[in-house]
Amino acid sequence: MKNIVILISGSGSNMAAIVRAAGRQRWAERLNARVAAVISNRPDARGLQLAANAGIATAVVDHKSFAGREPFEAALMQAIDAHAPALVALAGFMRILTPGFVAHYAGRLLNIHPSLLPAFAGLHTHQRAIDEGCKLAGATVHRVTAELDHGDILAQAAVPVLPGDTAETLAARVLTQEHLIYPRAIADLLRTL
Ligand code: GAR
Repeated sequence: MKNIVILISGSGSNMAAIVRAAGRQRWAERLNARVAAVISNRPDARGLQLAANAGIATAVVDHKSFAGREPFEAALMQAIDAHAPALVALAGFMRILTPGFVAHYAGRLLNIHPSLLPAFAGLHTHQRAIDEGCKLAGATVHRVTAELDHGDILAQAAVPVLPGDTAETLAARVLTQEHLIYPRAIADLLRTL
């Protein structure tokens, strides 16, 4: 069985979309794959409860209880590797990862970013797209490399930026597309593993 481990920091709606797709599309039977665990760096991440309700193993590796990035990542790697993952999917995981962490999961670490990369790497993507007068915004599923929000693009979806949009209304429109492209990109990748 190919195990997927999903890392979250917050509401976990992308994680939930992946879990839903895995169930509806019967990934266990058709792709020999399952979401094995959901791990958060925040003990209060709402997604943890969603995952537990779906019968998925959960864990917290709280970055605040470590002296620095490296011991945090060592503990995180241990929690992830306990599930021998074929894929590790960052889904709203809001920690910057060191090159050592990225290298450890080379080729099997994915992320979703709320912009049409290579535009708007980093934070505040929706406000920046509005401020620049963009007519299109969107989301990107990409492989993770040591450089933040870079790496091969696996899937993208675009949405219009509408007159009167705020960062919140645009984020909500983009998020509905994230929920479609991330599960699809993961399923496509699983077929090649
Ligand atoms: C999503 O919009 C995701 O693209 C973004 O955080 C949100 C998480 O929502 N990720 C990043 O900004 C990563 N730099 P979710 O917790 O409901 O999936």
